[in-house]
Amino acid sequence: MGSDAPSIRNARPEDAPLLAAAERAIARVPGRLASRPDEIDDDAVRGTIVALDERGDGIYLVAEREGTIVGHAFLEALSLAVTSHVVRLTIAVHEGHQGQGVGRALMNELLRWARSNPRVEKVELQVRSSNGRAIALYRSLGFVEEGRKTRRLKIGPDVYIDDIYMALWVGP
Ligand SMILES: CC(C)(COP(=O)(O)OP(=O)(O)OC[C@H]1O[C@@H](n2cnc3c(N)ncnc32)[C@H](O)[C@@H]1OP(=O)(O)O)[C@@H](O)C(=O)NCCC(=O)NCCS
Repeated sequence: MGSDAPSIRNARPEDAPLLAAAERAIARVPGRLASRPDEIDDDAVRGTIVALDERGDGIYLVAEREGTIVGHAFLEALSLAVTSHVVRLTIAVHEGHQGQGVGRALMNELLRWARSNPRVEKVELQVRSSNGRAIALYRSLGFVEEGRKTRRLKIGPDVYIDDIYMALWVGP
């Protein structure tokens, strides 16, 4: 099941409730997304889709299989002039669809966009130290660890996770 390559398209504002619900489902397991379920908001997701489309300095993609959205990912440019060559990556493959090549397909498409966009020179991301699957995917695509903030997330009494900062240089 799920071995066919997903099709990738630009996200639309009306996708926002489904994408937010999928993020809430993923966030129920601590140690993957940083946000907790009640911190993920339909309007914020819609706002990001609209803003990236209007500004054109980033891209918001969804992956579909048989007409069903199975994952989403986006790159957003940092806001200061001196950091405008940097985009920040977010990715979420939806529950039940992980480990089937959707994440790699979304990453490949985002990186194709980044490499074809002369303004983009660096792709950055943050990943929880507990998220071995994500770290393996990023490393396989050439991302390197640039630093680590220890015990940055507190997911329970006396339970902490580090945040790892990774990046890929795509510029000249
Ligand atoms: C992390 C995530 C993006 C990976 O996407 P995915 O579709 O599940 O992964 P893929 O099937 O594309 O596999 C990509 C790579 O991940 C690694 N991988 C896959 N399953 C794995 C597992 N169970 N354990 C360790 N590594 C694994 C492999 O290196 C694989 O490479 P391959 O193509 O050579 O097999 C996805 O699982 C996800 O969104 N998870 C929940 C939210 C999340 O963690 N987001 C990232 C926050 S930084």
